[in-house]
Amino acid sequence: MEYLTLNDVDTEDKTVFLRLDINVPINPETGQILNDARIRAAVPTLKNLKNARVVVGSHQSRPGKDDFISLQAHALALRKYFGWRVKFIDDVIGPKAREEIRKVEKGEVLVLDNLRLCSEENIEAPPEKLVKTIFIRRLAPLFDLFVNDAFAAAHRSQASIVGFAELMPAVAGKTMERELKALEATLEKPKRPCVYVLGGIKVADRIPVLENVLGSGEADKILLGGLLAEFFLYAAGHRLGQKNEEKLKGFLPLLDRAKKLLEAYKDRLILPSDLAVLENGERVEKRVKEFPLNSVAQDIGVDTLVSYRGIIKKAGTVIADGPVGVFEKEPFSLGTREILEAMAESNAFTVVGGGHVGGAAELMGLKEKIGHISTGGGAMLAYLSGQKLPALEALKKAARRFKGKT
Ligand code: 3PG
Repeated sequence: MEYLTLNDVDTEDKTVFLRLDINVPINPETGQILNDARIRAAVPTLKNLKNARVVVGSHQSRPGKDDFISLQAHALALRKYFGWRVKFIDDVIGPKAREEIRKVEKGEVLVLDNLRLCSEENIEAPPEKLVKTIFIRRLAPLFDLFVNDAFAAAHRSQASIVGFAELMPAVAGKTMERELKALEATLEKPKRPCVYVLGGIKVADRIPVLENVLGSGEADKILLGGLLAEFFLYAAGHRLGQKNEEKLKGFLPLLDRAKKLLEAYKDRLILPSDLAVLENGERVEKRVKEFPLNSVAQDIGVDTLVSYRGIIKKAGTVIADGPVGVFEKEPFSLGTREILEAMAESNAFTVVGGGHVGGAAELMGLKEKIGHISTGGGAMLAYLSGQKLPALEALKKAARRFKGKT
């Protein structure tokens, strides 16, 4: 392996910065954690670090979003799984946080507040630049070792992900290691046809993935859902109505790239033929041809589901990421649930990514029937589509630099 793991270092009495990705689905009204799979995934690494002084850093959502909240609830959840030794501090790089970090004892875990409260953590830049941030300059001197277990954020080149690795020994945590191994195995011999089911709202992240997996021939078919599908329907010339088009406004600079993909891969990029909307409190199926409509599209329609199910049934590999509808609202969870059921029933090797869909698979009791449930969404897709993961590159660079010295 080109990167080091917890097996390669002595953690006894070391002060460790443990980067987790415990960015979880939150009910924005109550602040309640809706699915804690990413928090549970941290436990094997924490157990491995029992003889160290551990400081946990993670982000939750992005500034300006409804679910951009403090990590206090996350720390409590971690305590439920890991015990009383988990503490929380409502600070990240200030004097209060640094004092608490110095006081952490062997066997204790201190959770810092949402790292993205620091503006510098929201910058995407190369490690050489991020290592100069105040964020890294304030925190790095307090640590002996960097453990990156934030696989789900491995596609981000942000200070806490790539900065520490420039300055100290850096190793992959248990989740990072497990994910990389499982996805490597998926890449080694993908059974054909290889079908991707992509949904969600992160249109900007998905365009390069589509370009890569279609361009390399890795994906035989891509079934689109969620806001991503609406964006491609719009790019294909369908008018969806003012309320639906309003949701796409932020992505218009990507329209040309979407149009090019549609032209080049007409037969492999599959768009919904119908969408579900809410009318008089009920879910109603509307053919794409019936748009523009005043009602907001919230799921793929039933005809689309029948066709997607058929394609999934014949697939050799199915990789799904992002809900195909507004999963949190009951009548519109249908699409995502049906896709997961079709995957569980198929003989294909199946991979599910992202907090929402992975969580849904667990809630539906399908965990044993899915080949691999990844804690990552964008990170998983980036890796499978051949993009370099900045987190992994940083770990490799640190391994080259620190091998033999740890
Ligand atoms: C995710 O959920 O994909 C990761 O936590 C990364 O979050 P981000 O897309 O806000 O960087």
